[in-house]
Amino acid sequence: MREADLILEHAAQLATPLGPAPCTGPSLGNLRVVPDGAVAAAGETLVFVGPSRDLPSKVRLKSGGLRLDVSGKTLLPGFVDPHTHLPFAGSRAQEFKMRLAGRSYEEIAVAGGGILSTVEATRAADVPGLASLSVARLDRMLEGGTTTCEAKSGYGLSLEAELKQLRVVREVAAFHPVEIVSTFLGAHAVPKERRAHREEYLRELVEEMIPRVAEEHLAEFCDVFCERTAFTLEEAEAVLETGRRNGLKPRLHADQLSPGGGAELAARMGAASADHLEFVSAAGIEAMAAAGVTAIVLPGAGFFLMSKHWPPARRLVEAGVPLALATDLNPGTCMTESMALMVVLACLELKLSVEEAITAATLNAAHSLGLARRIGSLEEGKQADLQVLEIPEYSHLVYHFGVNHVEAVIKKGIVVYQRAQAAGSVRRSG
Ligand code: NIG
Ligand code: FE
Repeated sequence: MREADLILEHAAQLATPLGPAPCTGPSLGNLRVVPDGAVAAAGETLVFVGPSRDLPSKVRLKSGGLRLDVSGKTLLPGFVDPHTHLPFAGSRAQEFKMRLAGRSYEEIAVAGGGILSTVEATRAADVPGLASLSVARLDRMLEGGTTTCEAKSGYGLSLEAELKQLRVVREVAAFHPVEIVSTFLGAHAVPKERRAHREEYLRELVEEMIPRVAEEHLAEFCDVFCERTAFTLEEAEAVLETGRRNGLKPRLHADQLSPGGGAELAARMGAASADHLEFVSAAGIEAMAAAGVTAIVLPGAGFFLMSKHWPPARRLVEAGVPLALATDLNPGTCMTESMALMVVLACLELKLSVEEAITAATLNAAHSLGLARRIGSLEEGKQADLQVLEIPEYSHLVYHFGVNHVEAVIKKGIVVYQRAQAAGSVRRSG
């Protein structure tokens, strides 16, 4: 008999992918589905996952423990968002309106808007200001069922400003329930003041910024925006190689706005992920499958940019590439924290099944961050990170779209979010 601090029982449905991760090919669509489901956690760890009727013979609630009846609700693992640009300041709402009026993202970037306008705002922000913006975003993630995210720098583009972004991430990660994995993205754009001498910025990246980030243990991964308006393949390779020598694992923004061989480079470098992939080549897909590089697709970016180019998710799955989903949360190409919206877009635009989209947003996303042994699915022995959804079964996450169904979120065995009661469910006492 196991002792538990927390029990959730009588869920209309419990649904979860099952390891081993990554789930590829047909296994991407295999969920374990338990009607009248229950989970129990001892401390941070799941000690029971299964039918409610089996619970009493296996688990006993400790005195002072919490038992919740979740009948009518659905239990899913917390979402893992493996690609966000969390610590930024400023708004690009004006640019967004220009895009609505017909100007393109690249046009605006070349004219000095885009990433560089967020760089200006982020450089000007002080640490408390940047921290409070980041915390507000993490709160919205949590309310949307996300329990772990990745967070990139890349709006500083100078040693001090990049360090500021990463230190802010470390500071908020120390107390916020959403667990954060940091990525150094100093190679996001060449800053304005270095445009005439980009080789100087590259030298600074390689000789000063990466060693310093590594020395202060400020990031686990190194990322590059490999694109004709950002960094070339050769530059990306040099940056990622330096990152690797300094203990930062490579990941890559690849083939987003134009075809450029980014997927092939990610495969050659054994990167943890290649992200975006709207313009990935057939050879790139094959190379990623052979190297086991996770494809992180970001349907929110294509949606928000009103692009007609979706990443070929189905072809990636058929080729055996592990597929994950992320928001890309950033002020230019996807201003949302909602993983549930990504699941909807993955089904309706990328043509994934609901089951595939859920696995991509949880277990495979965890795999791309190197965390799949601990998080991403509801399995005994794993961390108790889950969301309680006010829906009768998991497919309503997509079917009943555009509203937040999250009623509660549990992180490391603790109820860290509970939705305030809607007015309709408040009963008058008198
Ligand atoms: O992932 N692609 C590069 N970076 C972001 C966009 C950043 C921005 O526009 O501020 C992205 O889409
Ligand atoms: Fe991005």
